[in-house]
Amino acid sequence: MSRFAYVNGRFVRHGEAVVHIEDRGYQLADGVYEVWAVFDGKLADAEGHFTRLWRSLDELRITHPMGQAALTFVLREAVRRNKVRDGLVYLQVTRGVARRDHAFPNPGVAPSMVITAKSVDRELAERKAAQGASVISVPENRWGRCDIKSIGLLPNALAKQAARERGAVEAWFVDELGLVTEGASSNAWIVDAEGNLRTRDANANILRGITRSTLFEVIREAGLPINEKPFTIAEAQGAREAFVTGAGTLVLPIVNIDGVKLGDGLPGPVATRLRRLYIQRAKEKAV
Ligand SMILES: Cc1ncc(COP(=O)(O)O)c(C=O)c1O
Repeated sequence: MSRFAYVNGRFVRHGEAVVHIEDRGYQLADGVYEVWAVFDGKLADAEGHFTRLWRSLDELRITHPMGQAALTFVLREAVRRNKVRDGLVYLQVTRGVARRDHAFPNPGVAPSMVITAKSVDRELAERKAAQGASVISVPENRWGRCDIKSIGLLPNALAKQAARERGAVEAWFVDELGLVTEGASSNAWIVDAEGNLRTRDANANILRGITRSTLFEVIREAGLPINEKPFTIAEAQGAREAFVTGAGTLVLPIVNIDGVKLGDGLPGPVATRLRRLYIQRAKEKAV
């Protein structure tokens, strides 16, 4: 099937989509990105992802490429042209093209914007979620501004590769206090021995996941106890359940941490229920 990408104002064939060699995203990772899950051709958690996008851009003083209404239109168009019913739409904005220099171009240049969309086999994803996934731990070695959804993802890429080489789907970063911050591309959660849902607080050096935020609402509505108290790998290994959240994984049960099986090695009831409730809500509110 033909795929199409949006590059700086127009849709082109995916295989022919190119950016300039002096794009600051390419040379300096000077840019940000966002990813929306797509359900039935519609954008999930749309508002939250837009809000975070504007914040990431503002924190880095990158010009907004367009307003929210226009961007919503282009994102939907990317979904439509790629015939995505269920999948992901990826947006990247960089500071733009300029002769290589670490400092910002002066005068400023127009930001570059790229959008791609791809389908996801949700039935396969459900089958995988029903089996549960493994994570490994790696030392936290990222910069201090993980709240910005920057395209500077080398530590995340290396962590993910380490996970893959050990048969795991995700790597959890562990900070100098021995506490889990988050995954390479997801937020980390446990259901502790007392039955509390725990995830790292948003004041820590983590990306404030939009799936995480929506899940907070789902958890409160379900009347489950929640506590933004950090946890160690040992606590997670002794927890009743664990799971990760993100636009790509939604709510994915974790059944093995650094080779240690959690409980009976099967996805727990809380994570399984939260996955169902999150997907239901995301579908209802998708726009
Ligand atoms: C480092 C990191 N943490 C958390 C997340 C989850 O964020 P969201 O739920 O907004 O997809 C991501 C998603 O890409 C991520 O890269």
